[in-house]
Amino acid sequence: MDDLVELERDLTAAVAAAADLEALERLRVAALGKKGTLTERMKTLGALDPDTRKAVGARLNAAKDALADAIAARRTALAEVALEAKLAAERIDVTLAPHPAQAGRIHPVSQVIDEITEIFADMGFAVAEGPDIEEDFYNFTALNMPPEHPARQMHDTFYLPARADGTQMVLRTHTSPVQIRTMLAGPPPHRVICPGRTFRLDSDQTHTPMFHQVEALVIDRAIHMGHLKGAIEHFARTFFEVPRVTMRFRPSYFPFTEPSAEVDIGCDRSGGTIRIGEGSDWLEIMGCGMVHPNVLRACNLDPDEWQGFAFGMGIDRIAMLKYGAPDLRAFFASDLRWLRHYGFSCLDVPTLAQGLSR
Ligand code: PHE
Repeated sequence: MDDLVELERDLTAAVAAAADLEALERLRVAALGKKGTLTERMKTLGALDPDTRKAVGARLNAAKDALADAIAARRTALAEVALEAKLAAERIDVTLAPHPAQAGRIHPVSQVIDEITEIFADMGFAVAEGPDIEEDFYNFTALNMPPEHPARQMHDTFYLPARADGTQMVLRTHTSPVQIRTMLAGPPPHRVICPGRTFRLDSDQTHTPMFHQVEALVIDRAIHMGHLKGAIEHFARTFFEVPRVTMRFRPSYFPFTEPSAEVDIGCDRSGGTIRIGEGSDWLEIMGCGMVHPNVLRACNLDPDEWQGFAFGMGIDRIAMLKYGAPDLRAFFASDLRWLRHYGFSCLDVPTLAQGLSR
């Protein structure tokens, strides 16, 4: 009997000292398992006389219960320690910047600007920029729209408060002023695209007061409309990632180009979705034309020596077309759910070699 007391003491002490759950389990098996010390002792009961058997049996059962309790208590304690260790090891610093690939999304407008830039960079165009708040001279006058020119009314212009001399700056109504800035900044030849924000007082499903355009300008010797058409056709095919795009040039009017045209691309609207490239429908994608001699003169260029073409295209509209977003206003609502759906991973850098939109 005495050795049983000692055995229980030793076993409980070992249990209390068990370093981890595995060691504890080994101890449990060694004491209470099929061949465990206490189990083996139970097997010896049969050889004892009835009175001793009763007394030793009760003592043995008490020892087993005590040990089982000790094991359970130690298991709880060890599990808590293990959990604490796990929590400490898996601790995240939420103020750390997440990996960029998991973080924000690239807005479709930014993505499309990158795609357009990639396509035109391949044709030798540089990117030029101008200010959002523009002088009337660049936005209108130098573009062959002197004050009182009726075409100024085609633009629902945001004017800034008048300055002391009475003149007013404007939020640029198109990216065409960057044509002027480019031609005044240095001698031709010029080959630039100018993506950026533009502003007109307009708001509905396909118009927002702020929108984006990309301008293209080529100034060189002996430039003609064939160059314009070739560049646009190559752009449309590459941008919409289709082998063929039917195009239609409709005569139009812009004060700063002559002749002027609006460009439609063929599409197919049967079946609920728009397929770009071919079909019986047309989609207007840009205004274009040959740079007007008056514009060249305003930039100190001799129209007999230099010619060029220009076009201006709505970026948001073609982003909607390519990526299937139905409402332009959502582009600028800053709704994160929208951006997660329509946005791009910052690692999806559009390249001609790997595909513009993978
Ligand atoms: N600036 C014109 C517009 O906003 C587009 C355009 C650009 C047309 C260049 C011809 C040449 O509508």
